[in-house]
Amino acid sequence: MKTIPSDQTLGAEILGVDVSVPLDTETIKAIYQAILDHCVIYFRNQTVTQQQLVDFTNYFGVAVEHVRKQAPRDVSEIFIVSNVKEKGQDIGALGNAELSFHSDLSYMPKPGTLSLLHAIEIPSTGGETTWCDCRAAYDALGQDLKQSLEGLRAVHQHYVEAQNPPEIIDHPVVITHPDTGRKSLYVGPHLTKHIIDVDPAESERILGLLYRHLANPTFHWTHEWQVGDLVVWDNRPTMHRREPFPETERRLLWRTQIYNDVAPQA
Ligand code: SIN
Repeated sequence: MKTIPSDQTLGAEILGVDVSVPLDTETIKAIYQAILDHCVIYFRNQTVTQQQLVDFTNYFGVAVEHVRKQAPRDVSEIFIVSNVKEKGQDIGALGNAELSFHSDLSYMPKPGTLSLLHAIEIPSTGGETTWCDCRAAYDALGQDLKQSLEGLRAVHQHYVEAQNPPEIIDHPVVITHPDTGRKSLYVGPHLTKHIIDVDPAESERILGLLYRHLANPTFHWTHEWQVGDLVVWDNRPTMHRREPFPETERRLLWRTQIYNDVAPQA
């Protein structure tokens, strides 16, 4: 296995691994270390069945069916991300529109840790995914601002009401990765609603300031998708956003998800 880091603070290509076959413990450890180091890794030219994708996911935790319900399917842990319609019905979720920065499932009490996306069909233009290194973004904040964020918590909610748990979910604005000890900003414009226990204007001011900071391309790395790609990312130190693509083109990816077994900690 060879790891080729991108020229940004996150993102790396992994060479020499076929994810469709059983892997030895040493390789699995090396892949997880690459995820911790680079936050987002990708393997090109992979051919996997849905069950093989779930088996690969299970090396790093337990693949769990996505909270957003989809049509009954052979491998229920696979979530279809697609704009394709068959007989007038969506075969998957998320359509073709832009998705702004978010960390997967942050509206859940124990949100996503790793997400995996395997590209089956890719449009000729658009649909690129950009990840933000929220560790580097945190590190780049001034000391006073870091101190003023200590102890703050923010509410996270999905815009599809039925997808939210019954209780209101809040998480620390700055979280610490359990395996690396590094701190990251954990707020994003797609799913974070407001900071609790401060007045609405102050919440808006702080979130606006953090979103402008997180929008700095210094912290970003973009993946240009090819059919056969498998991308694995850690949602704890990153957020991601997706560019729109023409609705006349097809984009289809299989996704698996590992949930955290603990709530994010400051
Ligand atoms: C997502 O936000 O989870 C989907 C990313 C993508 O479609 O590239």
